[in-house]
Amino acid sequence: MILKSIYIENFRNHKQRFFEFKDGINLVLGKNASGKTNLLEAIYFCICGKSFKARDVNLINFESDYFKLEASIFQNDFEYKVFCYVDRLSQKRIMINEKKVNKLSELIEKFKFVYFEPDSTELIKQDPKVRRRFLDMEVAKIYPHMIKTFQDYQKALMSRNAFLKSYDKKDIIDVYDVELSKLGYQIAKKREETIKKLSEATKQVWYEVFEDKSTIDLVYRPSIESSSQEEYYNQLKKQFEKDLNFGFTTKGVHRDDFDVLINQKSAKEYASEGQIKLACIAIYLASAKLFERSVLLLDDIFSELDDEKRKNVLGLCRDYQAIITSAEEKESLISAGLIKDDINLVQL
Ligand SMILES: Nc1ncnc2c1ncn2[C@@H]1O[C@H](COP(=O)(O)OP(=O)(O)O)[C@@H](O)[C@H]1O
Ligand SMILES: [Mg+2]
Repeated sequence: MILKSIYIENFRNHKQRFFEFKDGINLVLGKNASGKTNLLEAIYFCICGKSFKARDVNLINFESDYFKLEASIFQNDFEYKVFCYVDRLSQKRIMINEKKVNKLSELIEKFKFVYFEPDSTELIKQDPKVRRRFLDMEVAKIYPHMIKTFQDYQKALMSRNAFLKSYDKKDIIDVYDVELSKLGYQIAKKREETIKKLSEATKQVWYEVFEDKSTIDLVYRPSIESSSQEEYYNQLKKQFEKDLNFGFTTKGVHRDDFDVLINQKSAKEYASEGQIKLACIAIYLASAKLFERSVLLLDDIFSELDDEKRKNVLGLCRDYQAIITSAEEKESLISAGLIKDDINLVQL
């Protein structure tokens, strides 16, 4: 997929702007608070139908009552025109080629992208919920039908938890155990496969881009270890008394996690800030390797990287369409040999 252009009207600090991008590397340069992250947020909105951090109305320019975005995205020689509109009365319209988008998952199924921001180191530092969300996005990109499985699991989990709290109805809980085991086992298998692929790709990036001698591994930590649906079911059943005491389901894929190991040691526990940042960049770039023709949105990826690593990151990005922001001066990037003729410069 290639993002050809985006027209932005009243989105955050951008009143009326039109940006064109090319395949390969696009470098967006601008001072602090000039709207670099806001531009990536606008692109993200067109691809996902929502922001990565804020409610829709907060994206409207302070002095306006609405925002409008129009993106032109090419995929397999076909042009998708994505139109987004949000106003202060919470009216929201998203259309692809003039056809209304009813579910945001329609967008995720269509457009593949990777978004990296400085906060992305939370992937290692934060609690398991952050990693599960990331992992499930990766799973959904490879297996779009899994989006429904995730939703069905959440519904079945909530129902089971409700029954655990209402003592008199606990005899019919088995219906939910069967359903949870079926969905949970499917999710666990897909997560396991995806982590394996992601781990291999991360290793490649780690050596190629960072030329790091240490090892990196991503290891899936399932809450229930099982090699069949039946085994998953039996383990869920074993927890029944405990679940009844707690009033919720204490084991299952909603409790899964994965570890990032550097030199076989947990990065969360032992790695330095710098190593954590490199590991996260490697994982996000690896995610791009897994999906052909993803668009890379890389916010402020250069900070804390030396010129050698910056060059290597750019080298990898040449195989994709990358939109990279930086607050550095153009002159200093030129003198470091980072800006070549094939880079499309966008000055904010
Ligand atoms: N809804 C909004 N309307 C107008 N300006 C906004 C809105 N939301 C944020 N801003 C402004 O956008 C600027 C930050 O833009 P940002 O994209 O984060 O900059 P950077 O180039 O540093 O990434 C700030 O000056 C902020 O006040
Ligand atoms: Mg920014």
